[in-house]
Amino acid sequence: MTGKSIQARITLHPAFMIGAIDDRLFGSFAEHLGRCVYGGLYESGHPTADSDGFRTDVAALVKELGPTMVRYPGGNFVSGYRWEDGVGPREKRPARPDLAWRSVETNQFGTGEFMAWCRKAGVEPMMAVNLGTRGVEDAVRLLDYCNMEGGTELSELRREHGSKEPFGIKAWCLGNEMDGPWQIGRKTALEYGRLAAETAGAMRMFDPKLELVACGSSFRHMESFGEWERTVLEACHDRVDFLSLHSYYGNAKNDGAEYLSRSDEMDAFIKEVVAVCDSVKARQRSRKTVNLSFDEWNVWYHSHEADKAVQPWSHAPRLLEDVYTAEDATLVGGMLITLLNNADRVKIACLAQLVNVIAPIMTEPGGRAWKQTIFHPFALTAAAAKGGTSLRQSVESDRYDAGSAKDVPYLASACVRSRDGGLLVLAVNRSQDKELELSIQYPELDAFGAPRWTTLVHDDPKAVNTADRPNEVAPADGGRVSIEGDTARAALPPRSWNLISFARR
Ligand code: AHR
Repeated sequence: MTGKSIQARITLHPAFMIGAIDDRLFGSFAEHLGRCVYGGLYESGHPTADSDGFRTDVAALVKELGPTMVRYPGGNFVSGYRWEDGVGPREKRPARPDLAWRSVETNQFGTGEFMAWCRKAGVEPMMAVNLGTRGVEDAVRLLDYCNMEGGTELSELRREHGSKEPFGIKAWCLGNEMDGPWQIGRKTALEYGRLAAETAGAMRMFDPKLELVACGSSFRHMESFGEWERTVLEACHDRVDFLSLHSYYGNAKNDGAEYLSRSDEMDAFIKEVVAVCDSVKARQRSRKTVNLSFDEWNVWYHSHEADKAVQPWSHAPRLLEDVYTAEDATLVGGMLITLLNNADRVKIACLAQLVNVIAPIMTEPGGRAWKQTIFHPFALTAAAAKGGTSLRQSVESDRYDAGSAKDVPYLASACVRSRDGGLLVLAVNRSQDKELELSIQYPELDAFGAPRWTTLVHDDPKAVNTADRPNEVAPADGGRVSIEGDTARAALPPRSWNLISFARR
């Protein structure tokens, strides 16, 4: 495709599917880090705090964001965490140094509070165990405290602490980023693979139905990437259900076109990890398929400098408080598109994180809460695509080069047959200055009602939302989508994220 304007064409058929979209693709993450928990989820003196000390203004925004699952309590934090410190009477809980973030952890919020918060928010918990400073025994003790009905010392302790019913936590992470030199108790792949296998084995003796996630590489550019995955899975393949992936992108070079191509890098990363999982499956003649848990993903770079100036050993300092721009929201929308296009293998994904810390929701201590720019693509995609089926597309698009990114399609898109039989087209125009003429071909499109087109775009790619201007970057009506026979056409603005919904009449 050539010419003055840029063009792209999507051809679809409802029978050609990638796979059912697991609702847990729209998960998030709450770590004991900075002001995510303290001053985010929990702030007992806040005017909106409920009887548990949970901020209801934040809870209302979380409802609107729509995460289905929340990973907890870390992140790097979990590798030094003693969960016993965070249960029981609050006045008896010890304050401890959190080595991962060099902060003071007061333990006023712990496992019981997290579970109560999840229940109120209507989200599923994903619990991580400490495989940094602890191991098999402690993982089973936490499982006993959480999931045993009663009759053991630890389950009776939970009941004494006010939770008569077991928590019934299904999804468990076996540590966090255990390959990272920054990780407390970092391990070699052999050491970690063996520990993950032993821990998973013991946890499965407690309950064979648990869903267990082994740590993949901390990110794709780790030197040991690939080899780490292979070695770990050789040790624990049949005992785990998922391998984790983490990815954060940034635009420090200030090259918008290169930056928006990062969602394709994320796609390549997923395909590489799938290849390693399947090669171990083949070598071991296993009947089990290990799927992917992309349990940390987002944009993260704005706060790097500010974080260097944070004084150590304070409680809930302002750490990782990225203020997101319109272009960040476009990339986040693109990353969601990548996740949808890999719905056959990525079954869990967690936007990292939920409040204040590289988050879609920001708060003032004692004051307001508002939506960051990245809130919007997440909320809109989750609301529309939950319960849907990701469709296979044939895409032709004009392409560009930018920085290290070569031959990048201007269009990034995912198509979903929605739970009510409608069609959703999620699309990013990566061009910095040109409209993209998009055509979508789908059988019997003219039998659908008039499509609804929501677009997220701002004249200034660096525009942000603040407490005073919370709607500076917000979704708007995209305009008219024309339909002729089985083809729809729309002109997507430069640097925009778009959701076009076709509902059955
Ligand atoms: O989400 C912030 C940090 O990023 C997490 O603690 C860690 O797992 C990752 O490196």
